Amino acid sequence: MDRIRIRGGRPLQGSVPISGAKNAALPLMAAALLADGPLVLSNAPDLADIATMAQLLRHHGLSVEHDKAARTLTMSGAATELEAPYDIVRKMRASVLVLGPLLARFGRARVSLPGGCAIGTRPVDLHIKGLEQLGAEIEITAGYIEARGKLRGARIIFPQVSVGATENLLMAACLAEGETELVNAAREPEIGDLAMCLMRMGARIEGIGTDRLRIEGGAPLLPATHPIVPDRIEAGTFACAAAITGGQLHLDGARLEHLGSVARVLRDAGVDVAETHTGLLVTRRNGLRGADVMTEPFPGFATDMQAQYMALMTVAEGASMITETIFENRFMHVPELMRMGARINFHGSSAIVRGVPKLSGAPVMATDLRASVSLILAGLAAEGETIVNRVYHLDRGYERVEDKLAAVGADIERLAG
Ligand code: UD1
Repeated sequence: MDRIRIRGGRPLQGSVPISGAKNAALPLMAAALLADGPLVLSNAPDLADIATMAQLLRHHGLSVEHDKAARTLTMSGAATELEAPYDIVRKMRASVLVLGPLLARFGRARVSLPGGCAIGTRPVDLHIKGLEQLGAEIEITAGYIEARGKLRGARIIFPQVSVGATENLLMAACLAEGETELVNAAREPEIGDLAMCLMRMGARIEGIGTDRLRIEGGAPLLPATHPIVPDRIEAGTFACAAAITGGQLHLDGARLEHLGSVARVLRDAGVDVAETHTGLLVTRRNGLRGADVMTEPFPGFATDMQAQYMALMTVAEGASMITETIFENRFMHVPELMRMGARINFHGSSAIVRGVPKLSGAPVMATDLRASVSLILAGLAAEGETIVNRVYHLDRGYERVEDKLAAVGADIERLAG
C-alpha cells in the first residue's frame, strides 16, 4: 500500500485549487436514479469514493461516464437492477443514498445495510423511519433493507439531524405524490447543492438552506447540468495547512459561508481568514492560541474538520478542549499525534490538547479519512520525517493531496508499494 513521506518545517505559500465536494457529489450521483437523464455534473472530483458510487450506479444499470480531463460526470439511463449489494455498500456507507431514489422511482429496492465503520456504529434508522412515513413497507432481512410501496408526501420530523437521511428523504420526496415537509433537516451546504440540482431537474423545493424543506413531489424529473459545490472540508484542511506551517494560502473557489463556524474558530486561534473575489486567503503571521471547539451539525463546527483542527492545536500556545458530539469513536488520530510528541488527554468524547513548541516526525497510520489527513498536517509542522501509512483512506476523499501540498512548497511525496 502507498505511503506518504513528509519532511516538515516549511511554511506553505501560494494558491491551492479546491476541488468539487465529495460529500456533494455522492448524493448528486444517486439523484441520477430519479430520472432517465442525462444528468451532467461538472467540477467532479477524481476520488476513490466517486469511482465506488459510479460502480454502484453501473451495477444498477445506468451508464456513467467520468471524463477526468473535463471534470464531468454524466449519468444516463434507467435502473434495471434494484439491489445494492453488500460488496459495494460495505466499501462506502454513502451507497445507502440509492435507497430513497430507487424506491421512489420503481416502488421497490433492496439495499445492503452498511454496518458500522471506524468512527462509530452509524445506524440508518432515520432513513428507514422517514421512508416508512412516506408510505414504504420496510423489512430488514439477511442484512438487507427490503423496501416497497408507492410513496406519498408526508410531514417528517427528524428526531436528530442527519445529513444522509435528509438527502435520502429529499430525493425520495421529489417523486412522492403530494407535499412533503422535512422538519429538523440538516443544513449542510451539500444539501443545498443537492436541492439546487433537483430543482434544475424540475423538482419544486422550498426552504433551501433552512432546517425545514418543503417538496411538492410527483412530477417526473428531467435532464440537467449542475456544477458541484467546492469542497468546504478540503478548504478547511488547507486552511489548517497554512496555519500549522505559519504560511499563507489562497484557497481558489472556497466559500466563507460554507465554512460555518470553522472560520470563526480559526480566527479565535489567531489565523487570518479573509474573503477574496475568487476564494479565501488564509494567513498565519503570529503564534497560534488554543481555542475550544465542539462539533455540531452545520453551521456548527464540522466533525469532518475535528481531526485537522486537533493537529493544529497540538502546536498552539495554551490548551484547547475538543469535544466530539456527532460520532462516538472519532479520536483515532489521538494516539498517532501523541507518537509525534503531542500532549493530549482524552476521556469519552472530549480531548484536552496542550500545545507543544514542536512535534517530531514519526511513522504513523490512521484508519479513517480525516484522521489520515490530520497526520499529514502534523507532519508538515514536525521536525524531521513523517511517514503516513495506509494512504488508501486519503484517496477516498482528497484529490492528489500530496501534489497540491508540494505545489505550495511542502516537502512531500508518495512512496509506492
Ligand atoms: C455525512 C458525511 C460525513 C460527515 C457526517 C456528519 C457524506 C457522504 N458523509 O455522513 O462525512 O461526517 O455527515 O456531518 O456526506 N444517525 C443515526 N441514524 C441515522 C443516521 C444517522 O443515528 O439513520 C447518527 C449518526 O450515527 C451520527 C449522526 O446521526 O451520529 C449524524 O450522522 P449523519 O449526519 O447521518 O452522517 P452521514 O450522512 O452518514
